[in-house]
Amino acid sequence: MAILETKNVTYYYQDGDSRRYILEDTSVEFEKGIFYSILGQSGSGKTTFLSLISALDSPAEGEILYEGRNIKDIGYENFRRNKVGIIFQSYNLIPYLTALENVLVAMSVTENELPENKEEVAYNLLDYIGLAKTKADRPVTKLSGGEQQRVAIARALATNVDIILADEPTGNVDEAMEQEIVNIFKKLAHEHDKCVIVVTHSKEVSDQSDETLYLYKGSLKDHE
Ligand SMILES: Nc1ncnc2c1ncn2[C@@H]1O[C@H](COP(=O)(O)OP(=O)(O)OP(=O)(O)O)[C@@H](O)[C@H]1O
Ligand SMILES: [Mg+2]
Repeated sequence: MAILETKNVTYYYQDGDSRRYILEDTSVEFEKGIFYSILGQSGSGKTTFLSLISALDSPAEGEILYEGRNIKDIGYENFRRNKVGIIFQSYNLIPYLTALENVLVAMSVTENELPENKEEVAYNLLDYIGLAKTKADRPVTKLSGGEQQRVAIARALATNVDIILADEPTGNVDEAMEQEIVNIFKKLAHEHDKCVIVVTHSKEVSDQSDETLYLYKGSLKDHE
């Protein structure tokens, strides 16, 4: 069964008296263990789509289902806090905290079952993502863009969610770092059975994903 599904989702922005449709009757299914990429022109609605499936916003019509249940019934905040991890292009880290503390904050907010030794788990997670302890203890503003992106990924993973969403996660990093981040997403899908959905403009990223969806004229399709 799909872990996440949109059913006839429509969304528009009100533009004066008229409506600007971003999504029209979009139905799509996402499964665990698969690394998806979403491509589409600038302004086609990719970030808007992510904000709907992460319950930061709600559709005008249609439903978003998690394990077959409408996320509205699960509760948007509950869903956001416990079911999805989001990685933003601009990282959205708390600047005055260290990498470790950023991860710990996320762990303190979730209601998911987490191990007692949170600090050790967070250090291990950062290490797994490629940030050794010396860097984990540094304020995030003193880390490079690629390193901050790793912290954002570790934070998204720390709450033990099934769905990882990322909005242009390699937009600000060089090719080598992009490849490393792609390798992390592959591992998350293939070794940890996560559902990974990545919005990207990069062909290198989409070529390495398992399935590519195109957002075009308000619909998500598996071909251009
Ligand atoms: N709050 C808002 N109010 C009105 N229009 C909006 C709002 N947010 C986004 N839009 C418009 O909706 C359209 C889709 O925006 P969105 O950010 O989802 O595109 P995108 O595919 O992520 O683009 P990019 O690749 O440039 O990030 C754009 O035309 C944008 O200007
Ligand atoms: Mg966008």
